[in-house]
Amino acid sequence: MKISLINASPKMSASNTGILLDALVRHIAAGHEIHRRRLGRKTFATEVLREIATDDVIIMGFPLYVDALPSNLLSMLIALEDCLKAEDCGEMTVYAIINNGFYEGRQTCIAFEIVQNWCARAGVRFGGGIGQGGGEIIGVMKKFHGAYGLFRQTERALIALAHSIPEGMPVGIRYLNPAFPRFLFGFLARHFFWRPLARKNGLRMKALLGKA
Ligand SMILES: Cc1cc2nc3c(=O)[nH]c(=O)nc-3n(C[C@H](O)[C@H](O)[C@H](O)COP(=O)(O)O)c2cc1C
Repeated sequence: MKISLINASPKMSASNTGILLDALVRHIAAGHEIHRRRLGRKTFATEVLREIATDDVIIMGFPLYVDALPSNLLSMLIALEDCLKAEDCGEMTVYAIINNGFYEGRQTCIAFEIVQNWCARAGVRFGGGIGQGGGEIIGVMKKFHGAYGLFRQTERALIALAHSIPEGMPVGIRYLNPAFPRFLFGFLARHFFWRPLARKNGLRMKALLGKA
């Protein structure tokens, strides 16, 4: 089975998407040919798109941008569509792992609809995937401690997905939140993310809260 694993985060540095894809790969049985690809800010060259079109499975990982797909991924999908139609890829299955900054993974539902519609247009099977909320916490943790930590449900969903991928079986969509209360998420985000970021950029809380 040839599997294309695409990280479509436009971030040039380490991405939360990458951490989730690494965790998924750890659970895919040995013996499959996995082609890992980082999209970056531009689309792939035509030769790479043609290679992807000959794979059996595509797993696209990406961050939610304004309730939808980042524009680099959108451009790539438009270009890939032609290659897929030329290859007659009716047996190909496409899964998505989408992570978003807000707490609720369900925020990714419109992006999943976009992927699903694109699959119908490109003539490939939509396999579902995972919509994960609280994505920036994954990056803060640096390493994915899925089994026991805040993302244990995610770990289980990744294992289920990894077992279905070699069969090309549709798995449905799992929307997941971090395993701790929403108010704590707000507190941690304010104190460990937004305020330090504001300070780093030379802003004081007073200035942020002041009227324009
Ligand atoms: C331009 C931009 C738009 C974003 N839009 C949303 C959004 O609509 N909803 C949301 O929950 N998070 C949004 N986010 C947050 C990202 O989805 C989140 O930080 C994600 O974990 C980044 O993943 P990455 O490290 O793989 O790029 C946005 C981030 C950026 C930079």
